[in-house]
Amino acid sequence: MNQPTMKGVAAINAPAFVQQQKLINWVAEVAALTKPAEIVWCDGSQEEYDRLCAAMVAAGTMKKLNPAKRPNSFLACSDPSDVARVEDRTFICSANKDDAGPTNNWMAPAEMRTTLSGLFDGCMQGRTMYVVPFSMGPLGSPIAHIGVELTDSPYVVVNMRIMTRMGRAVYDVLGTDGAFVPCVHSVGAPLAAGQQDVAWPCNKTKYIVHFPESREIWSYGSGYGGNALLGKKCFALRIASTMGRDQGWLAEHMLILGVESPTGNKHYVAAAFPSACGKTNFAMLIPPASFKGWKVTTIGDDIAWIKPQVDEKTGDVRLYAINPEAGYFGVAPGTNEKTNFNCMASMRENTIFTNVALTDDGDVWWEGLSKEAPAHLIDWQGRDWTPAIAKETGAKAAHPNSRFTVAATQNPVIDAAWDDPAGVPISAFIFGGRRSTTVPLVTEARNWVEGVYMAATMGSETTAAAVGQMGVVRRDPFAMLPFTGYNVSDYFQHWLDMGKKIAASSAQLPNIYCVNWFRTDADGKFVWPGFGDNMRVLKWMLDRIENRDSASSGIEHIFGISPQFSDLEWDGLDFTQAQFDTIISIDRNAWLEELKLHAELFEKLQHHLPPELDANRVALEKGLSA
Ligand code: GTP
Ligand code: SPV
Ligand code: MN
Repeated sequence: MNQPTMKGVAAINAPAFVQQQKLINWVAEVAALTKPAEIVWCDGSQEEYDRLCAAMVAAGTMKKLNPAKRPNSFLACSDPSDVARVEDRTFICSANKDDAGPTNNWMAPAEMRTTLSGLFDGCMQGRTMYVVPFSMGPLGSPIAHIGVELTDSPYVVVNMRIMTRMGRAVYDVLGTDGAFVPCVHSVGAPLAAGQQDVAWPCNKTKYIVHFPESREIWSYGSGYGGNALLGKKCFALRIASTMGRDQGWLAEHMLILGVESPTGNKHYVAAAFPSACGKTNFAMLIPPASFKGWKVTTIGDDIAWIKPQVDEKTGDVRLYAINPEAGYFGVAPGTNEKTNFNCMASMRENTIFTNVALTDDGDVWWEGLSKEAPAHLIDWQGRDWTPAIAKETGAKAAHPNSRFTVAATQNPVIDAAWDDPAGVPISAFIFGGRRSTTVPLVTEARNWVEGVYMAATMGSETTAAAVGQMGVVRRDPFAMLPFTGYNVSDYFQHWLDMGKKIAASSAQLPNIYCVNWFRTDADGKFVWPGFGDNMRVLKWMLDRIENRDSASSGIEHIFGISPQFSDLEWDGLDFTQAQFDTIISIDRNAWLEELKLHAELFEKLQHHLPPELDANRVALEKGLSA
């Protein structure tokens, strides 16, 4: 255990494997500001991971689960005030306010820097500052980018080791002058000499800050998820989306899956659903038993980096996608052997659970894991929990945004190309919100602009993934509302431009679909069975992709093309034409109301809103009113 450390901040004794002076200087600068008791340069080894986990168990931050039930796994329970992303505390500090746009919180960079200097001054006192080098994307891939996170949270270090390619090898790629995105994170809870630490240190004051021009991230006050694992939403979406705007690529809140037919025909599709709306489930989908020979494999479950590449033979431009992450930080509640068998298999061992309940035999439980709840649990807040208590108080055993962290390699249906630095070609984009009414099961856009319009105007009911009211419909363009690092109207334009670029090369543009698994009946129950049965919709899309010019499947309506009952494969599912009608139908009055919300959104996004999109809205309105 020969970890290079530094006591005090006078000198930075970087280990020999750190070759870059600029990086060392930056670490020294941040250390001088935050004043940690010690600096640890992480090497990403198993030994380091085990040591940090053991220290967190000793400190009460994590519990080791029963190794017979859940080998090498831990449960961390956060402070009840620190359980999800804080969108109202998230800032895009571009030089110009217009570049952040009306959907982002903005503060002038100089003003924010003053605020941050105050907050970070001495904020790591009494704690260890970890230097965490990571690569988003396969190490050394031309599509990958490197970040270094400085954090005073060992929980962040072990999660980053699972979620990214983290450790010593990153320094070799960085070399003496490679570029990296500097990410500074503090839980904002300095310890005075002799002060006893708490299990989950954090601060009521929270700031999640991005400087898109200098590509920097500063996060203060939270230790949870996307607030603290800075490679994920902060880097791979907010900062990366601005890099993509400048460099001609896309950073998206999308899963990527491969789907192979019994004849060996394979396509990759990317799907954007808002937080806690089914990406992980769709990415690991198991087709119904009647779909003999069909295979679905996972490239990624949350984030896609998509770049146009020229096919050297044809000169065509196609979109290739990589998953910049190396693990899943997935929603636990609702996950079980039936809804997502592969996900359950992924977390049989080597898993960090956060904010789920602890069983009496040292395993984990959450709402929806089994039909019947155990007779007794310790809930995520450390309290006794029984079904009777739950009935009386409504207390949840697991927090609705409780999650598991696992390495992607533990997924039994990981795609063979998931790690391919070249990425995989994308045949279709799917956009889907959580809507109990109005939006049909599936609609294909007739062209790129119509598809971009569908994605831009998407609405979804809010979930527990972000702090705030749940279940209210909000516009969530491209499922990127909290993640677009720049003006969202410019982002729409970027999507339109990408389409034009591909079309100009005479290449086939990916089809675009809008889906909704979440329509409910009069009793509030989901009508569509969802999960594995989403394969039925996916298969229809593939039929359409393979037979683009034939009108044999689907029916055209005002918004695009949807399947008729007879166009879907129903083998093995008892689903009536009447049920289908309730989830595919278009209610004219509901849509007139919906279009008012589109108009409201576009009103707000006027500045730089591409005129094609508003023209599309006007045409729809005319069509509906006719
Ligand atoms: P983030 O990680 O927050 O970005 O979310 P995600 O989109 O990966 O969410 P996830 O797949 O974990 O979805 C979580 C919730 O969606 C759970 O409550 C699931 O039960 C529910 N869900 C997923 N797929 C379906 C589906 O096909 N139908 C229905 N009704 N619910 C679904
Ligand atoms: C999301 O909220 O979309 C997530 C979880 O994927 S977090 O990493 O906390 O942002
Ligand atoms: Mn997400």
